[in-house]
Amino acid sequence: MFSSKKITTAALTAFLLSATLYATEVPQTVIDTGDKVSKELLKKLGSNLKHELKTKGLIAAANFCTQKAYTLTQEVNLHQLEGVSVKRISLKARNPENIASADEIKVLESMQKLLDEKKLPAYIVEKQAESYKYYKPLVIKKEVCLKCHGNISSNQELSEYMSKTYPEDKATGYKMNDLRGAVVVEIKQ
Ligand code: HEC
Repeated sequence: MFSSKKITTAALTAFLLSATLYATEVPQTVIDTGDKVSKELLKKLGSNLKHELKTKGLIAAANFCTQKAYTLTQEVNLHQLEGVSVKRISLKARNPENIASADEIKVLESMQKLLDEKKLPAYIVEKQAESYKYYKPLVIKKEVCLKCHGNISSNQELSEYMSKTYPEDKATGYKMNDLRGAVVVEIKQ
């Protein structure tokens, strides 16, 4: 029998995609891989950020994200099985590398709607022609995130750093419990 979590995922996937694309239930291996790889990335980025903040302060930590977040993501990618990759995306990206693609925008918009309705699941799986995309929503649950993604104009040094480094920065003005974006694990079949 299906667990209620699986039914939620299946219903969501059906809602997100046309029936032709969604023919079978999402394999458990896809869910397990998405879960494992997204957690690995978040742990790696989170522990490094925490360490930088504690030992070097806010500006150095921001610079660390600029210099290292993408490289660390690539490092996590390097030791995955062939056909498995991970990245972060947002509707309001800071780093242009993290701008969501057209299909990803649709999923992020659905997530926003589900969050507004207090129905956001732990993950959403999207079936594509030759791959699955596992999306883990990133909701702001820690005050520390707001130091660099909240109202940063009160910190002149930080806002100058951000506008200089990211002229197109859209990742400010967030509040607690806002949807910041998602981790996407792509699993090729
Ligand atoms: C010290 C400043 C700082 C803090 C604190 C911080 N971030 Fe960021 N964040 C950045 C910078 C700089 C980038 C862009 C570089 C990158 O990561 O690719 C970024 C990028 C991101 C991205 C990728 C999407 C995008 O906009 O490019 C997500 C998702 C994100 N941050 C979530 C969080 C969350 C959740 C927290 C709290 C746990 C957090 N951040 C705390 C500075 C920070």
